Amino acid sequence: LNYNVSRERRYILEVLFNGLRRLEYRGYDSSGIALDADRTAPSSSSASPSDAPYAGAPPLVFRQEGKIENLVRSVYSGQFSFDLCFCPVQPSAPECFLAQSGILAASREVDEKDVNLDAAFSVHAGIAHTRWATHGVPAPRNSHPQSSGAGDEFLVVHNGIITNYEVLKETLTRHGFTFESDTDTEVIPKLAKFVFDKSHDEEGDVTFSQVVMEVMRQLEGAYALIFKSPHYPNELIACKRGSTLILGVNELSGQQNGKQFHDVKTLTTNGKPKELFFSSDLCAIVEHTKNYLALEDNEIVHIKDGSVSILKFDPHEEKPAFVQRALSVLEMEVEQIKKGSYDHFMQKEIHEQPHSLTTTMRGRLKDGGVLLGGLKEHLKTIRRCRRVVFIGCGTSYNAALAARPFVEELTGIPVTMEVASDLLERQGPIYREDTAVFVSQSGETADTLLALDYALENGALCVGITNTVGSTLSRKTHCGVHINAGCEIGVASTKAYTSQIVAMAMMALAIGSDQISTQVRRDAIISGLSSLPRNVIEVLKLDVEMKELASSLINSESLLVFGRGYNYATALEGALKVKEVALMHSEGMLAGEMKHGPLALVDENLPIIVIATRDACFSKQQSVIQQLLSRKGRLIVMCSKGDASSVCPSGSCRVIEVPEVADCLQPVINIIPLQLLAYHLTVLRGFDVDQPRNLAKSVTTQ
Ligand code: G6P
Repeated sequence: LNYNVSRERRYILEVLFNGLRRLEYRGYDSSGIALDADRTAPSSSSASPSDAPYAGAPPLVFRQEGKIENLVRSVYSGQFSFDLCFCPVQPSAPECFLAQSGILAASREVDEKDVNLDAAFSVHAGIAHTRWATHGVPAPRNSHPQSSGAGDEFLVVHNGIITNYEVLKETLTRHGFTFESDTDTEVIPKLAKFVFDKSHDEEGDVTFSQVVMEVMRQLEGAYALIFKSPHYPNELIACKRGSTLILGVNELSGQQNGKQFHDVKTLTTNGKPKELFFSSDLCAIVEHTKNYLALEDNEIVHIKDGSVSILKFDPHEEKPAFVQRALSVLEMEVEQIKKGSYDHFMQKEIHEQPHSLTTTMRGRLKDGGVLLGGLKEHLKTIRRCRRVVFIGCGTSYNAALAARPFVEELTGIPVTMEVASDLLERQGPIYREDTAVFVSQSGETADTLLALDYALENGALCVGITNTVGSTLSRKTHCGVHINAGCEIGVASTKAYTSQIVAMAMMALAIGSDQISTQVRRDAIISGLSSLPRNVIEVLKLDVEMKELASSLINSESLLVFGRGYNYATALEGALKVKEVALMHSEGMLAGEMKHGPLALVDENLPIIVIATRDACFSKQQSVIQQLLSRKGRLIVMCSKGDASSVCPSGSCRVIEVPEVADCLQPVINIIPLQLLAYHLTVLRGFDVDQPRNLAKSVTTQ
């Protein structure tokens, strides 16, 4: 066996597995991988460069149901081990590719020393995928790579959704193709084979990019795709429309054949050894390179013998144009995607909020005002708009709801709220005079992006509030604010929620900065923002208390959370956290609606959290507590420090005391004990914290 090359193969596998682990937060019900292989090639160190050992040989394909580690086990099991030791030798570059969705579990680090830079490099290409089922149950046959059929002549990994797959399936079935999966993706490799066979018969040679372009012509929907085919050994094609696809380039520095290589600044095909990565998310490549390119719609990247070319596909043009793109440098540290000393990402992300909030505000609170570079050109237009429409899903929607009262107060502009999917289903009115603010941690949520397209079509000014630089949301909106909370990996959003609220507070301050009447109020909020990280450190000290509270609630079947005013959103978000990770039924309720139904549920067993921190609604919440107590409610009251006896004079409720901050920023503080409660409840109930049942971090399909 060729020791060096087999280690390279192993290296690529590990890169792909680690990448999948980084992406696993996007989906974790099944996964798959494909690598070049030659099952019949002699395993000998004497293979010569001209052997081209895997030309035409079917790649190795593994697909598994369940988490990434199931796939890792199946690949490394004795059954396949001989396949992993093969030795193509060609004087070119090693290439590693991965695609699509996915959380980090136990990570096995690749020792850089394992890559022997002095060895003659071979071109290796692998593709991998982690899936969250939309079409078809989690099962190996529904996992990606999806295949063109026997011989795996075309293999495809896909992120997105093909909307016309039924029509394509019918046509391909008429041409003799049989389908094995229930996925929309399977039509893609089959279509590629159909195009390949047809072009081959009619015109002779057809290039890989010609095949892919013809496939793109037929596809409708959103996709990021990577193609691999034994007809084109040492080649890979990636393309996208709608879904995000990142290309990472790592020019291997160090000595090779006595020459020194340096990092790349621009994407050139200089023949130096490179590692190339494709990924749906920067998280998966950050530990390999910081040089990346976010591909644009209709771009096709063709990797051939270690060189990269980018083509712009125009469905109306026969020939695509070559495009030159410069690489960007990623500002993200590897530590952000590791758990460090914490047991779970959710726990780490809750506890890093003093830091994430600081980075959200860094450089933006200036000279007693707010400076938001991504908005300043558009502030005048926003001030003149007829209304602000907040649009988002899940936690991001809740963050917008928390922002609504202070945006209305500081700007004087009416704010309406829209759950993205509901706006689309109703085709709700959006006007040119509207400012549509899209809130999304990932910037990739399909419903939010479709609502964005809808608002753009209707001529609204579109503002993005997102954590993800280079995301579709940040690219498609006219302007916006990056919340800079750092990579969030736990499926249950925590630090992004608080940073979103703070980003929107700064946005409201910037929009309202021309109003003299609110100057004193704005100054108070700015000062509240500056002291927020300190108060978050304070509230995090409730960790032990929240764990005790969680242990008293583990056997409860349900939990209600009552809030109003600024903290209606806190009630919804606190309940959502408990629901999504602790798998306990939980509802957030507007306290003002209590008398109109929820009161019927109250008895001595049902735990109810009432948020009663100091603000204009305080006395109303005091009266809610009294009404609940008179019905023997089992109450847990959240109040401002020192208010325990004011909220519960009888001493019959459990009290959580939190630091008091500017009323409109109080939701940032109040959500933290509820995040801690949800976290501890999940651990104590024995559920998976970072990968809750049936949920994915980014829902990139409708
Ligand atoms: C999914 C996640 C939620 C998240 C929502 C919106 O449902 O499980 O945690 O809040 O998507 O995601 P976004 O990335 O748009 O904020």
